[in-house]
Amino acid sequence: MSSSSAQHWDPAQYAENARFVSDLGMPVVELLSPKPGERILDLGCGDGALTLKLAKLGCKVVGVDSSPEMVAAAKSLGLNAQVMDGHTLPFINEFDAVFSNAALHWMKHPKDVIAGVWRALKPGGRFVGEFGGCGNVAAIVTAIESALSSRGVTVANPWFFPRPEEYRGLLEAMGFAIEIMALIPRPTPLPGDVGGWLETFAQPYTSALPGTEKRGFISEVVETLRPMLCDANGNWHADYVRLRFSATKPQAAP
Ligand code: BEZ
Repeated sequence: MSSSSAQHWDPAQYAENARFVSDLGMPVVELLSPKPGERILDLGCGDGALTLKLAKLGCKVVGVDSSPEMVAAAKSLGLNAQVMDGHTLPFINEFDAVFSNAALHWMKHPKDVIAGVWRALKPGGRFVGEFGGCGNVAAIVTAIESALSSRGVTVANPWFFPRPEEYRGLLEAMGFAIEIMALIPRPTPLPGDVGGWLETFAQPYTSALPGTEKRGFISEVVETLRPMLCDANGNWHADYVRLRFSATKPQAAP
């Protein structure tokens, strides 16, 4: 799912701490409106949970992801999945749609990604997806960066969370026609405390620390976030803001 070398994906840990990612991806599948027989590229397919839904709807799906572990998990579901960097997609004019859920924020060079999606699509093909937009996990990032700073450590934000106008501009510059571009605040219930989220997703930050400091660091960030992200009943949520979009490569592409 990630293009960051500091992030490693463990399918079992992902299933425990992040199953909500694919569970909450169904509205994006509905926006895609896949038809049986369509050839679809799932960009950043992860462990293949949504790729499988598309396959069960009768689509011919190819899943790609930069994590060999996640691709192995997707393959174990019987899916066609390949290890690939989303910045260098090699497909030419072969998909009716490119779908992406909760993956594009890991790809820090969006122009390269969009150019590859454009090449991969047939004329008239759709690019439909959702990922972290401007303001996504802002409280979490602030708490992480402040705890790192107090240890004298600085790490550049590993994620791409654009404003809607910025992403619209990038897609339009490639030639896409935009149907939907919406920033959607979506506080997202977590299966445990935010420590599980940090363990699963924040490795680009935590890997900058010596292994012996990681546990204390995560506990400190959890306590900083408790007043903001944990309710009186002990239920945690992450301060997610999604950027949802639907775009089309025109029939007569420029
Ligand atoms: C997200 O889905 O918004 C997200 C996941 C991991 C890290 C950052 C953001």
